[in-house]
Amino acid sequence: MKNIVVLVSGGGTNLQALIDAEKNGIITNGRITCVISSKADAYALERARQNGIKTRVLVRKEYPDIASYSLAMKNALDEEKADLVVYAGFMTILDEQVCRAYPYKMMNVHPALIPSFCGKGFYGLRVHEAVLASGVKITGATVHFVTEECDGGPIILQKAVEVRNGDTPEILQKRVMEQAEWKILPQAAALFCDDRIEITDGIAHIKETSV
Ligand code: GAR
Repeated sequence: MKNIVVLVSGGGTNLQALIDAEKNGIITNGRITCVISSKADAYALERARQNGIKTRVLVRKEYPDIASYSLAMKNALDEEKADLVVYAGFMTILDEQVCRAYPYKMMNVHPALIPSFCGKGFYGLRVHEAVLASGVKITGATVHFVTEECDGGPIILQKAVEVRNGDTPEILQKRVMEQAEWKILPQAAALFCDDRIEITDGIAHIKETSV
């Protein structure tokens, strides 16, 4: 059984999808053992508490720089004996000391189809604003491993979602969450816990199950 530690900063709907997936038997070889928030008032913490999951708060502003914050996060992950770290709406970029300590053991959900609309500055509603401003007709979500390159790690799963006439960033965000993020994030966590993700030459491959 793998220990899943979920990192959050906001509302935690993706955390909820992971909690539901554990309850519904979609994730069977892992359990969420701790939720760590970068904000003390994140509603995600309430979701964790309601489900009896241990919470920790590491407020970014209480650390002088990203290196000291990253070290505190690495120490917390070590203490929690994390096998898998899931960024579920976690809005802080950690430095290389965390990525190196947890290689291909950290995954992030991004609300667009990487390599489009990603990288520094593309987070939350800003992503959907950029999608609408560009005029693309298809967007979606991506789950990828976290590496030192922001949004640049191996892609595990993606799902496309259509952009519709009259979409606002908020409407599009909701559709991308419902149709893509809340599905592929738990699926990717389950694949990891089942040891079904293999990295070859920087590319993630999903191993088929034998029947
Ligand atoms: C989600 O849409 C997630 O993909 C996005 O923030 C939202 C968090 O919602 N993450 C990023 O933009 C990271 N670059 P949630 O707190 O309800 O899960």
